[in-house]
Amino acid sequence: MKIRIGILSAGGDCAGINSAVHWFVNSALDKDLVPLRGVMFEIIGIVDGYKGLIEVKPDKKDSMKAWTIPLDAEAVRTWDRYGGTRLGTTRINPFDPKNDVSDLLIENYKKLGLEALVILGGFDSLGAAYRLYRKGVKIVGIPKTIDRDLSETDYTIGYDSALNAITEDVDRIRITAGSHSRIFVVECMGRRAGWLALEGGEASGADVILIPEHDFLIERVSELLQTRKKAGKRYSIVMISEGAKPRGMEEIHEKRGRDGFGNYYLGGVGGFLAEEIQKQTDLEVRYVALRHLQRGGSPTAYDRRMGRKFGIGALDMIVNEDFGRMVSLKHGQITSVPLKKALEKLRLVEVEKFYSTKDYRSLDHIME
Ligand code: F6P
Repeated sequence: MKIRIGILSAGGDCAGINSAVHWFVNSALDKDLVPLRGVMFEIIGIVDGYKGLIEVKPDKKDSMKAWTIPLDAEAVRTWDRYGGTRLGTTRINPFDPKNDVSDLLIENYKKLGLEALVILGGFDSLGAAYRLYRKGVKIVGIPKTIDRDLSETDYTIGYDSALNAITEDVDRIRITAGSHSRIFVVECMGRRAGWLALEGGEASGADVILIPEHDFLIERVSELLQTRKKAGKRYSIVMISEGAKPRGMEEIHEKRGRDGFGNYYLGGVGGFLAEEIQKQTDLEVRYVALRHLQRGGSPTAYDRRMGRKFGIGALDMIVNEDFGRMVSLKHGQITSVPLKKALEKLRLVEVEKFYSTKDYRSLDHIME
């Protein structure tokens, strides 16, 4: 007898998801482990995240073909090296208060004969996963988000690839910034967490770093840039997180409203800041929002490895019946943590430890 497991990716895509699916499937179907585990598995990929489990009509062949993918070693053979998610994803919230379809989803989960469900998700998608667990679905979570804002894990798949994208993009921007003696305001993603700005800024050598965890003064940014100019620097890079805001102002978000979980789409603060610096100084300023460039591309070696470790870890959790939990990296080791705990609060930058509120940069020295 085989135990049938479903796996889906939900929320924003990122590099490394495919690696996790690849290794999850390979571990699940590893014949050598059958005697040890005492069970055999069959893995069903669900297309487009929660949407697939809502839309699928398990008794209709065409619908099954559209919303599910039988996964075996051959099907996922090359997946580990590709970015994005081959399973597809959406930002649908099955518990949307205006259209709660969680019961339908659970009905389909049962009709598909699934005995557990693996969710690759970030804060919101794993929040929905936890609610499904509370309603009786055997859930295992795998943390993935370029924001790296989930508590109870030192890593979320996709973060390292996004950091590398930021670093490469700033390398390009530096060249034109230097040619023209310009200031470049570079806006990165990260939602309410400043990790991408802080560590992307560190990696790319940004001169000013602005994070959501500390509201900045526009005048201070201008002052720091002018000081650099006076010191003979031809150009400067300002790395700003999409969630950062000037003191006394609200976050700047796009006009397209909110996602299925009620979050505004952040974006535009870099453009606003660029205009303000331009007004306050004689510096020539340009603005670039890196946006989804941070989410595309191939996974870095680290994301492939973490996808592998999280994928295999998730399968071990199923074997051990560790449901309602998320695979996690803690102090260099793979472990599992209760989803409830991981979702209690966002993991944000600890300003006192990592950030200079005076100079708007990371705290690099042992003694500052
Ligand atoms: O959560 C990942 C993330 O990339 C955020 O950093 C960003 O605010 C958001 O997703 C963008 O979402 P979308 O891809 O739906 O525009």
